[in-house]
Amino acid sequence: MNQIENKTTTIKKYDFPTDFWWGTAASATQTEGAAYEGGKGPNIWDHWYEVEPNRFFDGVSASVASDFYYQYKQDIALMKELGHNSFRLSISWSRLFPTGEGTINPEAVDFYNRVIDALIEAGIEPFVNLYHFDMPLALQEKGGWESREVVMHYVAYAKTCFELFGDRVGKWFTHNEPIVPVEGGYLYDFHYPNVVDFKRAVQVAYHSILSSALAIEAYRDTRQTGKIGIILNLTPSYPRSQNEADRQAAYLADILFNRSFLDPSVLGTFPAELIELLKEQDALPAMGETDRKKIETYTVDILGINYYQPRRIKVKEHLPNPKAPFMPEHLFDYYEMPGRKMNRHRGWEIYEKGVYDILTNLRENYGNIECFISENGMGVEGEERYRDTDGSIQDDYRIDFIAEHLKWVHHALEEGSNVKGYHLWTFMDNWSWSNAYKNRYGFVGVDLTNQTRTVKKSGYWFKHLIEENGFEG
Ligand code: NOJ
Repeated sequence: MNQIENKTTTIKKYDFPTDFWWGTAASATQTEGAAYEGGKGPNIWDHWYEVEPNRFFDGVSASVASDFYYQYKQDIALMKELGHNSFRLSISWSRLFPTGEGTINPEAVDFYNRVIDALIEAGIEPFVNLYHFDMPLALQEKGGWESREVVMHYVAYAKTCFELFGDRVGKWFTHNEPIVPVEGGYLYDFHYPNVVDFKRAVQVAYHSILSSALAIEAYRDTRQTGKIGIILNLTPSYPRSQNEADRQAAYLADILFNRSFLDPSVLGTFPAELIELLKEQDALPAMGETDRKKIETYTVDILGINYYQPRRIKVKEHLPNPKAPFMPEHLFDYYEMPGRKMNRHRGWEIYEKGVYDILTNLRENYGNIECFISENGMGVEGEERYRDTDGSIQDDYRIDFIAEHLKWVHHALEEGSNVKGYHLWTFMDNWSWSNAYKNRYGFVGVDLTNQTRTVKKSGYWFKHLIEENGFEG
């Protein structure tokens, strides 16, 4: 039994390398608010709320979110107080270009300049992500990621960001979890434009991958000296048993949900089995030779890993109706592992070792690419009930969640993984897409009635961890 499994009897000090990146992550739509202010144009979330408000938990839109647009100064001061040395934000495409293309909105330039400067001033390195689920509405109307023209507008937007902010930003990310808009918008009906169509989903995925490579090319052309990467949500796929059929099913799920983005982003290639499968389903997008070459050439410098939960896979027991349109789940089934630990609020399994398995896989099969944990976290519904008489939320479950994941990150580091940091999702409670404010994730609680911020117990625990650059557990 190693020291991690033996945690009831062994207390160990988990020290992290100097310069380890400690901080949190957030996105524009989820935190800024001011959705109709400062010259911002509508994105798909503003639009979806207007046409289908019932899709959103408690009928709450993103129009105010956590009010970061107005309170960024105090929020950054609080990040400093809690010891952050880095913070990930995203730039809202439709704030910078209200219709996604053409004329730049000067108020947006001013806002992001002020935010970036305030972070630097506070000693917090800004990590900037370009696309976080927020397609400008005008471009969605032109086909969104299904359209090759939209890919070029995205590249122009990326280039503008590098030119405007690249003198102060040295860590760029082209997309956050690009598979999520594919799943949500084109397969499982939880993002706009909520269609269900495998072939269109593949087209969206392919254009997202291409757009990332073209943005990396644009970055390298600027001759700026920072790093550019992508942030992927990786979900290790574990077979129910070692039987060949279960293993094959888990292998396919891994190809579809992880390697479809991981391989082109890091290695510049697509898994052969994926190409075969897409051919069989008549869903292989037209890949021009020049575009394919760009994907091969412009791979990432750095990888952000968002890790929340694994996939537990078993062989398909009931074959799908051969006439039903193809869906990934025609290839495998999910199963619930007996005795698994759960975050019952989200219905997600908590499996801390998953993060170690991801890092080990990157070390062994992806050239030990430089990476960091760009998201990990615990969404909890009704956190109010953990409020103490002194007013702060006693979120010991979040502390435990982070510590247990960090032990496995530490273990991977000891074995030589090239992991450079850990960002919690998220700094302060924020708006989570159609779940709105249902689950709270922050180190800092936000009272929605007056936008007051209160640091939770975990926020102070994290501050202490950063001061010590490690923890005992
Ligand atoms: C991943 C996404 O990047 C973020 O937008 C989302 O709110 C969190 N996970 C929590 O589900």
